[in-house]
Amino acid sequence: METMKDQVALVTGAASGMGLAAAKAFAEAGATVVLVDINEPAAQAAQIVAAGHKAIAIRCDVTDEKNVEATIGKVVSTFGRLDAAFNNAGIQSQAMELADVSGEEYDRILSVNLRGVWNFMKYELQQMRRQGSGTIVNNSSLGGLVGVPGRAAYHASKHGILGLTKSAALEYATKGIRINAVCPGIIATPMVEDMLANEADAMQEMMKVVPMERLGRPEEVAAVVLWLCSPAASFIIGQAIAVDGGYTVQ
Ligand code: NAI
Repeated sequence: METMKDQVALVTGAASGMGLAAAKAFAEAGATVVLVDINEPAAQAAQIVAAGHKAIAIRCDVTDEKNVEATIGKVVSTFGRLDAAFNNAGIQSQAMELADVSGEEYDRILSVNLRGVWNFMKYELQQMRRQGSGTIVNNSSLGGLVGVPGRAAYHASKHGILGLTKSAALEYATKGIRINAVCPGIIATPMVEDMLANEADAMQEMMKVVPMERLGRPEEVAAVVLWLCSPAASFIIGQAIAVDGGYTVQ
């Protein structure tokens, strides 16, 4: 069903994993999709267009505020509007005791995962405020809800995303703009393939405590993002929806 016909949806980190799955889901729902990634996402946009849908690609580093402002500027000058955004781009770092993590590594994680989401929210909201409408979903993590040893910087960034989500949701509650977050568990994407290759033991330990005893699929997260952006979720703001096979309810 084309629940997003005539709408414009933007996805960051759209060249891979959950971002690509969400871009495809938005496109299949009838939206024109803007794929944003630091790795040129033109091939992924072309794939969506070849499947009969509407998409464009913009190369952008989410940490660079000027680059982000120009990206939203291009969306608005091209399409005149922005209806939905999935702020999803993020990076993981090697598991390590907090006492051994460098300041540079901490800043690297926070600048992509937290400042990157803030950068996009700022310019998305400027346009959505002009329209008086819009929906935003931020990609947090199970790392936004619980702690895991060795992951303090990543989890700080993901908890921070929920602070941005809740406060902004309240700011825009009466202005036609709904803002929520998803908190995926362990999802089979290239990010997790890297973690499995480099930290097999730590990952096996984490996977043992997934009640559904399997990895999630990117499409299972994309479906929730699409739903949160649809009128079906019209009374939901500021929520952190876990999509984690039960990981965080134990
Ligand atoms: P992925 O590595 O497959 O995709 C992430 C995308 O973000 C890549 O295409 C990458 O090029 C892009 N990206 C990285 N830095 C960027 C930057 N500075 N500017 C623009 N784009 C940038 O990862 P995956 O697994 O799809 O992750 C997506 C989001 O989901 C991330 O925020 C991650 O932290 C989060 N997440 C992942 C989980 C998992 O199990 N895979 C679990 C919970 C959350």
